Amino acid sequence: MIDRFGRRLTYLRVSLIDRCNLRCLYCMPRGLLDPFKEEELLTMEEIVETVSIFAELGIWKLRLTGGEPLLRKDVPSLVARIKNIPGIREVVMTSNGVLLKHFAADLKKAGLDRINVSLDTLDRENFKRITGLDKLGEVLEGIEAVTAAGIRPVKINVVLMKGFNDAEILELVRFAVARELHIRFIEWMPTAGGIHALRENRFMSSEEAKNRIEEKYTLFPDESNPHSPARNYFAAGTKSEVGFISPLSNAFCAMCNRLRLKADGMMKTCLHGKEDLDIKALLRRGLTREEIRQAIISVVFDRPEEHFLNNATVPHNDFVMTAVGG
Ligand code: 5AD
Ligand code: SF4
Repeated sequence: MIDRFGRRLTYLRVSLIDRCNLRCLYCMPRGLLDPFKEEELLTMEEIVETVSIFAELGIWKLRLTGGEPLLRKDVPSLVARIKNIPGIREVVMTSNGVLLKHFAADLKKAGLDRINVSLDTLDRENFKRITGLDKLGEVLEGIEAVTAAGIRPVKINVVLMKGFNDAEILELVRFAVARELHIRFIEWMPTAGGIHALRENRFMSSEEAKNRIEEKYTLFPDESNPHSPARNYFAAGTKSEVGFISPLSNAFCAMCNRLRLKADGMMKTCLHGKEDLDIKALLRRGLTREEIRQAIISVVFDRPEEHFLNNATVPHNDFVMTAVGG
């Protein structure tokens, strides 16, 4: 599948559920006002069906996200079923880590290829301040459990927040290096439920974070994946990679190869764009696979060129991160 700007779509991010067991201040500090009801969510059957349609259209990499995907029942068996779909080569997941220790072994057995775990701080009080809950211990145990289960590499995601965790940047890198984890720093994006970083003067660019890390580590660019929204570096003398995701200061739209499926079955062709196609409705109306394929192809062809986040004259919808899954 290819869009009108010649970009090939090979990667689908699937949000399994919009609920979460944390309350990150950049995401949904007050919780979700109006989470999807059970019947609004795609069923596991519908997810498998949808993924297999996308696989026929050339999608080969899948990321399961949320909200917190592990709040959904039977995630390991979903992973196993998706891994069995012809054409799907990689199934990965993004989790906040809280429940991970209970699922690590089963996820590995099911064939999960890699995992990203969110971890913005190593300080228990600070973790409470950022996520609203006293769960740092669980997250650290979760990271240990996936490492022990042999899921490699484990990637840590850190959202950069001036005044919240900028003092811990080097410590987080040291934590990753000591465990041979990869680590990625993400610029704080505007979302519907979260605190607005720019307005609150909390925004930190990944360039600032990189400069700070380079005081202690030598970074060599890893250009093996041109589609990664992260600029990745090998940290010399370690087994870790350090990445920087700069949605605002360095738009990567020109190489974007990803589509998104919300937990309610809405497809988005751009994180910051509109909802483009209600796949759940098509499935429940009984359209054939061929009809659904054609609907996807035509919507994907028309996807927007870029997100225009930096252009104040272009209105864009703040989105609910937990429903789209980042
Ligand atoms: N800005 C940047 N990153 C965010 N995430 C959630 N909300 C935001 C935001 N407003 C990150 C989480 C997680 C990933 C799914 O997205 O920290 O690592
Ligand atoms: Fe949950 Fe992730 Fe949002 Fe934090 S950022 S509240 S962990 S969905």
